[in-house]
Amino acid sequence: MRVTVKSAPRLPGANAEETNLARMIRVDHAGEFGAVQIYRGQLAVLGHTAAGKTIRHMEEQEQAHLKTFDKLLAEHDVRPTVLSPVWHVAGFALGAVTALMGERAAMACTAAVEDVIDEHYAAQVAALEHDGEEHAALKDTIEAFRQDEVQHRDTALAHGAEQTPGYDALSAVIKAGCRLAIRLSERF
Ligand SMILES: [Fe+2]
Ligand SMILES: [Fe+2]
Repeated sequence: MRVTVKSAPRLPGANAEETNLARMIRVDHAGEFGAVQIYRGQLAVLGHTAAGKTIRHMEEQEQAHLKTFDKLLAEHDVRPTVLSPVWHVAGFALGAVTALMGERAAMACTAAVEDVIDEHYAAQVAALEHDGEEHAALKDTIEAFRQDEVQHRDTALAHGAEQTPGYDALSAVIKAGCRLAIRLSERF
């Protein structure tokens, strides 16, 4: 008996060669987009406080990261995540709500998000190492961005992130949300 296996229907733009590379670029683009939104949410509340300058600098770096992934999406013909509108609202809300809880809570949010992104980018860099020279440029880009994210986390910790009341719980919830967002943005 012959069994025919039908492949699952694909989303528009996902060609037959939907590779790990495409998923990598899609999720990173989504992450940088979300990061810009988080910092904008923080700036809407804390923009005119002493922390404003620090947050604005991080937001500018996220914008540069996003621009790079905008280009990579186009170059590699990868469709962006269909969840962009969700990350647009959720990112901004996360930034604004934690900022409303106070500067330290905003910094706790930053520390949690950037910690997950550091992990995520480190795993991608390790995966790209296996491809040798083929994706060397992308690997270098992600590694450079990873170092920016580590700086953002360290800046947040230096601004008293861990002193916010309920830090451990807040951090755990935000990290879980980020990991879920990563898994969803890779696929959808
Ligand atoms: Fe970034
Ligand atoms: Fe960052």
